[in-house]
Amino acid sequence: MERTFVAVKPDGVQREMIGLVITRFEEKGFQLIGLKMIQMSRELACEHYKEHQDKFFFEALISFITSGPLVAMVWQGEHIIDSVRLMVGATNGLFADPGTIRGDFSAGGRKNIVHASDCLESSDREISLFFRPEEIIDWDMALGNWIR
Ligand code: PPS
Repeated sequence: MERTFVAVKPDGVQREMIGLVITRFEEKGFQLIGLKMIQMSRELACEHYKEHQDKFFFEALISFITSGPLVAMVWQGEHIIDSVRLMVGATNGLFADPGTIRGDFSAGGRKNIVHASDCLESSDREISLFFRPEEIIDWDMALGNWIR
């Protein structure tokens, strides 16, 4: 079982897409094991996106991600990191495949509704940035045997 970090970004919150994003992953059969709404500080945003600190878009990204609340989540499932990235779609919604969250609902590069970890190292790092261990609930998923 893998875990991944997913966030509904400020545009997704403002566009009332929190439920839609959660429903996508619930319907897929993944398990929600951590959830909170937060207003990111600049400090947390810079740490979260530090791998992009030398990119030309870094300031725009920090400004956007701190512009309103976001919903931080931890999801669990088999091969979930790659699977969620496929479900989220390419960074720029204009070029994301139809059927993906960004492909169906995003018409921008920065305002792309959802963030999802891109690898195991990132997911471990991002989960620990946003959640204390006791905030993650490894509950027994009764339907699990019918999904996996
Ligand atoms: S890269 O250069 O390929 O590593 O970048 P990429 O993975 O495509 O994007 C990394 C995150 O930066 C966001 N992004 C932008 N923000 C603001 N302006 C511009 N032009 C821009 N381009 C990319 C992008 O949405 C990614 O955010 P996350 O939250 O990781 O999806």
